[in-house]
Amino acid sequence: MRISFGAPKIPTRGIIVLFVSKGGKLSQVGQNIDQTCKGALKRSLKVANFEAKLGDKITVFAPSGYTNATFILVGVGESKQYNELRAQKVGAAIIEALQSSKELTAVIMSEIQNSSLVDNTLLAANIAFGARLRSYAYEKYKTKKESSDQKSSIKKLTFMLDRPNIARKKFEGLSKIADGVDFARDLVSEPSNIKTPKWMAQQCRKLSRLGVKVEVLGETQMKKLQMNALLGVGQGSVNESQCVIMSWNGNKESKKTLGLIGKGVTFDTGGISLKPANGMEEMIWDMGGAGSVIGTMCSIAGRNAKANVVGVVGLVENMPDGNAQRPGDIVKSMSGQTIEVINTDAEGRLVLADLLWYAQKRFKPAAMIDLATLTGAIMVALGREYAGLYTSNEAFGQKIIAAGKCVNEKLWHMPLDPEYDKQINSPRADMKNIGPRWGGSITAAQFLQRFTNGIDWAHLDIAGVAWSDKNKDTMEKGATAFGVRTLDQLIQDHYELK
Ligand code: BES
Ligand code: MN
Ligand code: ZN
Repeated sequence: MRISFGAPKIPTRGIIVLFVSKGGKLSQVGQNIDQTCKGALKRSLKVANFEAKLGDKITVFAPSGYTNATFILVGVGESKQYNELRAQKVGAAIIEALQSSKELTAVIMSEIQNSSLVDNTLLAANIAFGARLRSYAYEKYKTKKESSDQKSSIKKLTFMLDRPNIARKKFEGLSKIADGVDFARDLVSEPSNIKTPKWMAQQCRKLSRLGVKVEVLGETQMKKLQMNALLGVGQGSVNESQCVIMSWNGNKESKKTLGLIGKGVTFDTGGISLKPANGMEEMIWDMGGAGSVIGTMCSIAGRNAKANVVGVVGLVENMPDGNAQRPGDIVKSMSGQTIEVINTDAEGRLVLADLLWYAQKRFKPAAMIDLATLTGAIMVALGREYAGLYTSNEAFGQKIIAAGKCVNEKLWHMPLDPEYDKQINSPRADMKNIGPRWGGSITAAQFLQRFTNGIDWAHLDIAGVAWSDKNKDTMEKGATAFGVRTLDQLIQDHYELK
């Protein structure tokens, strides 16, 4: 989909989108058009009992004066409350309305009544951003268009407003964030017969075009580094495990680095502790954490962020096999700590243990954030709306939560406590990879903390939010790339040279 910005010039044909504020107030352009239409728009709003709640929409076909045009009137709600997030939702509503029409292009008269409090160019850029995000579709493996869900894919959106150049400029940065989000969504949606660890590493290499330094470690190199916890997870798979290190050095004057760590289990069968058949196909998205780290690297490099960020992802496939890891095995992690593997399905933490240790040791980051589809338990606790956040530093955690709020990625602060930590002690090794029945997301986080070597750290358990079964505002159902926008926002707020 192409998105462009131009000066206001009302077309005479095709789809024209107009905004309506609470109380049925048309924008100024809308009112002018309505005069030409002899009041057809206002009459339609009245007959339809249009409330103009954010996202409400009606269509008016061929009113007099515009006999070749279709008007889509989109509610934008209370005019005093405009902000970026609401504008993004308006953009999503436009896409929803257009998908059910047959047209491939639309013009948006991007003027909101009484928006004088907020910069209209900023609103337009964010409406465009929301539209761009919502128009994502994963159709790579669809060879036919089914007539039932015949959603048209819109080819072009033109936003018309005063000072279009400023809006275009603002959208440019946002479109790079959308690139990162879409990249992550593509990776997460890919089926696991294609998405092997090596395939994933190959996708990471694409980032070098944007100036990201990409290093790939194979099993031989990881053996040398003694990443035995990670390697144990992949040992039952015919697909070689990989670790990818992506460095973005946007601020040469500073040594301060943020570390981003991602769980990249390309498929999680559970291993010898095999998962039940029902729903196992969902485990294609068990690399969602890695997907978000890769997507974030794409976003920040794309918009040339003046920050230093290193992304480390562990790519492994968890399979049952004659050579697979067994329950009861003891592995020595890179940190030197030993782990008794009670359940081979608690594999994400084994991967992250070595990644966290490696990242802090090699890069000495000011802080690290790991993202992982780590536990079913976090879904029991928080459902499919909030991700769980654990942190060793309250202030740091609050910054991440605040960044999430800005972009509508919800994070709930979960507890760490020495009492939980005790629960993963093992009589046979330094620790075991699962705790007791209750609080499974928390004991998983405690496990990770043992590999952070005391540096500022946060863990995002995104098992419940990496994939969505329904459309939500700017997110089409499917892979959500949860974390990309939060991390990009966090980097903007706290790590970039202004
Ligand atoms: N990848 C799963 C967690 C998961 C579950 C992600 C559902 C997305 C949706 C993880 O590797 C796992 O299997 N966790 C186990 C841990 C248990 C064995 C302690 C779980 O949560 O059941
Ligand atoms: Mn598992
Ligand atoms: Zn897993």
